[in-house]
Amino acid sequence: MQLRTVSELLSQNISIPEVEVKGWVRTFRANRFIALNDGSTINNIQCVVDFENTDEALLKRITTGAAMHIKGELVESQGKGQKVEINVSSIEILGDSDPETFPIQPKKHSFEFLRENAHLRTRTNTFSAVMRLRSALSFAIHKYFNENGFYYMHAPIITGSDAEGAGEMFRVTNLDDKNPPLNDEGRVDYKEDFFGKETNLTVSGQLEAETYAMSLGKVYTFGPTFRAENSNTSRHLSEFWMIEPEVAFMDLAGNMDLAEDFMKSVLSYVLENNHEDLEFLDKRLQDEDKTKPQAERNDMSLIEKLKFVTENNFKRVSYTEAIDILRSCKPNKKKKFKYIINEWGADLQSEHERFLVEKHFKCPVILFDYPANIKAFYMRLNEDGKTVRAMDILFPGIGEMVGGSQREERLDVLKEKMKALDIDEKELWWYLDLRKYGTAVHSGFGLGFERLVMFATGMSNIRDVIPFPRTPQNAEF
Ligand code: 4AD
Ligand code: MG
Repeated sequence: MQLRTVSELLSQNISIPEVEVKGWVRTFRANRFIALNDGSTINNIQCVVDFENTDEALLKRITTGAAMHIKGELVESQGKGQKVEINVSSIEILGDSDPETFPIQPKKHSFEFLRENAHLRTRTNTFSAVMRLRSALSFAIHKYFNENGFYYMHAPIITGSDAEGAGEMFRVTNLDDKNPPLNDEGRVDYKEDFFGKETNLTVSGQLEAETYAMSLGKVYTFGPTFRAENSNTSRHLSEFWMIEPEVAFMDLAGNMDLAEDFMKSVLSYVLENNHEDLEFLDKRLQDEDKTKPQAERNDMSLIEKLKFVTENNFKRVSYTEAIDILRSCKPNKKKKFKYIINEWGADLQSEHERFLVEKHFKCPVILFDYPANIKAFYMRLNEDGKTVRAMDILFPGIGEMVGGSQREERLDVLKEKMKALDIDEKELWWYLDLRKYGTAVHSGFGLGFERLVMFATGMSNIRDVIPFPRTPQNAEF
């Protein structure tokens, strides 16, 4: 007999006299019906136990959460709700589960409770569906780049540079915390640290990816990044995964085309390949919506939203146009925004981004040509001398999904910018070298993977789309 997955069994149209499956009990009803799940699909297989001929002690051990090895005959189901089921001929308990203490009971649990039990939450339908989609999206991302001539580059996780210049880094050290070596100024002497200098966990692989773009042409990174920003929101993690393509000889317009095509492609992949999980999450959202007041309900279902994005063009709007729209919009005039937009140059807060995307344009928006002084040092200065070739992609319900730019490729302009921002040339000598030896126009962007997973699954808290979230004051598991 060959061991099969629940997914394989459920796709059978014929009876099979002997099948074998292993999984965990979701429910056991009327001493007779086991709903068994093995993670291969959102659906359970119903296993029908001949309770009259089964040992009572064994029946007692069939509890929610227990692991079993079941053998039997796959037959057309007598009941509603499933096409096939297993008439059980033998049950072996692989691992008992104490029904008194097992946290995942067959009932609705709050997401907060499940976060505290993140090691077991993928035993629920919602979290197993979310994590299968997360896996499928990662695959779709690699597939897209592979099919489009990109090389996968592994950027270092420990770095000596702050790519974004925001100073939100986690220090990496193995100095003795009780007795660290001190320098002449009485401060910790990192020259004596493991790497002979101050090092941190990376906030972005971009600067290193640029070096590879300037030799291999088209590259991307996809790895963990770390930010010590103390923002306890439903859209920020301290450890998150970022996808960063970087392409030589590509300008900002090309960057926008790439980002749009890429996002449409990966979302289309899951629409085509993960239908059951999406339908489940779609229904979950619709049920949740029913408990909300009319004004807060979604005007599109999850699948409709995904299709809308894959089938419509993103709206491209300059920062200057966006400021004009915001300045004269109702919530600004009626002082409904927390931060009122008065003049050109203001940094956009998430309330403004969400107004533009959700109320004004009602579709994904690419904002570009931002004021230089609210963006990172490496962005290409425009001819006007005050804006840079930056782009942010904003999504309904999420806000900023992508941040990218055309990079400053002119050595003198870059040096001047670094000087103005007090960035040490010596730290980034290798980055400057790229502008000395065969410099060229190049561009790239960073996509926050968890924000993409949020959009694709309809989950509203970023902590619920990564296996073990790291946030301020929380690094359990
Ligand atoms: O806009 P950011 O800071 O851009 C960069 O890091 C560039 N170096 C990217 C590049 O051009 N190669 O971050 C990129 C994206 C954001 O748009 C957002 O989706 C996500 O990363 N992000 C976060 N996601 C979760 N938690 C956080 N704390 C995040 N910070 C940024
Ligand atoms: Mg950004």
